[in-house]
Amino acid sequence: MSQTNENEGNNMSTAEFEQIATIEETAMTTESTATEQQIEMDARDVSIWFGQRKVLEGVNIKFPKNTTTALIGPSGCGKSTFLRSLNRLHELIPGAKLAGEIHYEGSDIYAPEVDPVHIRLKIGMVFQKPNPFPSMTIRGNVLSGLKLSGMKRDNHDQIVEETLTSAGLWNEVKDRLNSEAGALSGGQQQRLVIARALAVNPHVLLMDEPCSALDPASTLKIEETIRQLSKDITIVIVTHNMQQAVRVADNTAFFLAAENEPGHIVEQGPTTEIFGNPQDQRTLDYVNGRFG
Ligand SMILES: Nc1ncnc2c1ncn2[C@@H]1O[C@H](COP(=O)(O)OP(=O)(O)OP(=O)(O)O)[C@@H](O)[C@H]1O
Ligand SMILES: [Mg+2]
Repeated sequence: MSQTNENEGNNMSTAEFEQIATIEETAMTTESTATEQQIEMDARDVSIWFGQRKVLEGVNIKFPKNTTTALIGPSGCGKSTFLRSLNRLHELIPGAKLAGEIHYEGSDIYAPEVDPVHIRLKIGMVFQKPNPFPSMTIRGNVLSGLKLSGMKRDNHDQIVEETLTSAGLWNEVKDRLNSEAGALSGGQQQRLVIARALAVNPHVLLMDEPCSALDPASTLKIEETIRQLSKDITIVIVTHNMQQAVRVADNTAFFLAAENEPGHIVEQGPTTEIFGNPQDQRTLDYVNGRFG
């Protein structure tokens, strides 16, 4: 009897074990698929040259979907250059070259069949200096990317309201959408160009020091905008402001270039680790303001 019970017990646990194993296997498969899906973009062994001069070497980094990644590092280490390579703006500079691969939605954005215009619509860019069309209206600015790209969307009023709301500017401009954009403050202009970038429905937004020309109040507004946007899109932001990286970025990559050497990533990982427990002495020194 006890033997039977034991056997039954064994049988049951074998069955249970098998069931659990199957569930775990399924879970692992789902998990690995989910992990793969969560990577929106990644750079694989990217090196970059201007003419004969190599300015970046061996950059590997993954940008998980709907997260914000900060690129930090001293002036001249290649942050902007790398950012421009992520939506094929780099190749517009004469003499610029790139080796390696940048994958977006599973394929290399530099593959011969890929249209760079499509890439730049899906992977938008916001520059350091706000660059609205100053004599165009606020509304016209928001819709200008759509018009230039030839994208046909007829719900223009809705797009204007939604993107200005997402960019944190709607309440300040909703009563003067037909005024000239040039009359807005610097911080408002930067939020306007964010709205313009959002109007074409990008999946990724690249931002190169978007707050460096702004006062602290406008900076906080843009940071709030970034936090809201990153629920729906993937953001890569270059910043010299360490507090900003901590406030907005899930992950941080620290770039560095030794004298006359190309820049590279010294260390990357969750922002809390890079700032709270960096593994490399140079990262520790940089994030504590000891150089750069
Ligand atoms: N158009 C260009 N032609 C030639 N060299 C360039 C060009 N743009 C950048 N470089 C060089 O590439 C290197 C990286 O420059 P990049 O602008 O990417 O640095 P950065 O990290 O963004 O610096 P900063 O923090 O000052 O903006 C520098 O040595 C720079 O001189
Ligand atoms: Mg730069």
